[in-house]
Amino acid sequence: MMTRWLAALGFYLLLCSSPAMSQGKPGSVALLERGKYLMNGVVACGNCHFQRGPQGEPLLDKGLSGGMVFDEPPFKAYAPNITPDRETGIGRWTDTQLAKAIREGIRPDKTVIGPPMPISFYREMSDDDLAAIIAYLRAQPAVSNKVPKSKYHIPLPPSYGPAIKQVKAPSPRDKVKYGEYLANIGHCMDCHNPRDQKGMLQMLQLGAGGQEFRGPWGVSVSRNLTPHETGLKNATDAQIERGIREGIDKNGQPMKPPMGFPFYKTINAEDMSALIAYLRSLKPISVSGKP
Ligand code: HEC
Ligand code: HEC
Repeated sequence: MMTRWLAALGFYLLLCSSPAMSQGKPGSVALLERGKYLMNGVVACGNCHFQRGPQGEPLLDKGLSGGMVFDEPPFKAYAPNITPDRETGIGRWTDTQLAKAIREGIRPDKTVIGPPMPISFYREMSDDDLAAIIAYLRAQPAVSNKVPKSKYHIPLPPSYGPAIKQVKAPSPRDKVKYGEYLANIGHCMDCHNPRDQKGMLQMLQLGAGGQEFRGPWGVSVSRNLTPHETGLKNATDAQIERGIREGIDKNGQPMKPPMGFPFYKTINAEDMSALIAYLRSLKPISVSGKP
C-alpha cells in the first residue's frame, strides 16, 4: 500500500513539473519557478495539504485541497483547502493576508492557526520565498472541497510572536547557515526534535529524533540526525542524501512516511549539500538528550 502511496506522489510531482503549470503573468515566471521548486521540494506543503484517499494516498487531481486529519490527544486538526477556490479555499484572501497566515499563523479574521501547521519554523521564511510560494498557490486550479473545522483541547497561543516586517535569507555561500534556513522552511526539526509529554518541541535537542508517527503505514520514529554515534556520525554524505531524497536509511533499509522524501527528490545539488553541512554542524546528542 505504501509503495502505491509513494508512486502516486512521484507521479503527481512529475505532472507539476510540466511547463503548462509554469505559465503565470509576464514577469512572474521566475517567481513561479522558484515557488514550484520549493513546493515540490524542500518546503513540501503538500505533504499535509494534499487531499488524500482512505490509505493516505494523495488524490492527484485534487491538489492542495486538504482534508488530511491529524488525530492526536491535544487536537483533531484538519489540513484546510489552500487552493484558490473562493468558497472552500483561500481564493478570497489577498497576498498580504496569505503571507500573514503562512508566516505568522494569523488568518484574515484574526484567529490563530493551530498545530501541526509548523508556523514557528515558517517565521524564518524570507520575503522572496514567501512571495514565490504565494505565486505558486495562486497558479493552482481551484478545487472545491469543504474541510471540517479543527478541534483543539489545548489553548492556542494568542500569536507565535511579534508581527514580522522583513526576512532576508542568508547567503547560499554560507553553507551551514543556508542549510539551516532550508531546514527551517522545510520544518525538518518539527519532526526530528524530541517532544516532551505535553507535545512541546525540545528546541535545545536539535535533531535528536525520537518522535513517533502513526498512520496507514503503522508506526515510524524520527531518526537522530546529529553527528552522534546513534545518529549520522558514521553515515557518508551520499548515505544521508539517499535518506533525504529516496527514503532509504543509512543502513540501506526503506523508510516509512510521513517524512516527505517523495518531494525531496527534486532538491538541487547545492541545496542538498547545504542541508547536509547543516546536519553535520549540529551538536552531537543521543535521543535521550545526553552527549
Ligand atoms: C505538518 C502539516 C502541515 C504543513 C507542513 C503545512 N500545513 Fe498549513 N495547515 C495545517 C493544518 C492542520 C492547518 C489547520 C490548523 C487549524 O485548523 O487551526 C493548516 C492551516 C493552513 C492555512 C490556513 C487556512 C485556513 O483556511 O484556515 C494556510 C493558508 C496554510 N496552512 C498554508 C500552508 C502552506 C503554504 C504550507 C507550506 C509552506 C503549509 N501550510 C504547511 C497543516 C500543515
Ligand atoms: C513529517 C515528519 C518529518 C519531516 C518533516 C522530516 N522527517 Fe526526516 N524522518 C522522519 C521519520 C519518521 C524518519 C524515520 C523513518 C523510518 O524509520 O521509517 C526520518 C528519517 C530521516 C533520515 C534517515 C536517517 C538515517 O538514520 O538513515 C534523514 C537523513 C532525515 N530524516 C532527514 C530529514 C531532513 C533533512 C528533513 C527536512 C528537509 C526531514 N528529515 C524532514 C520524519 C520527518
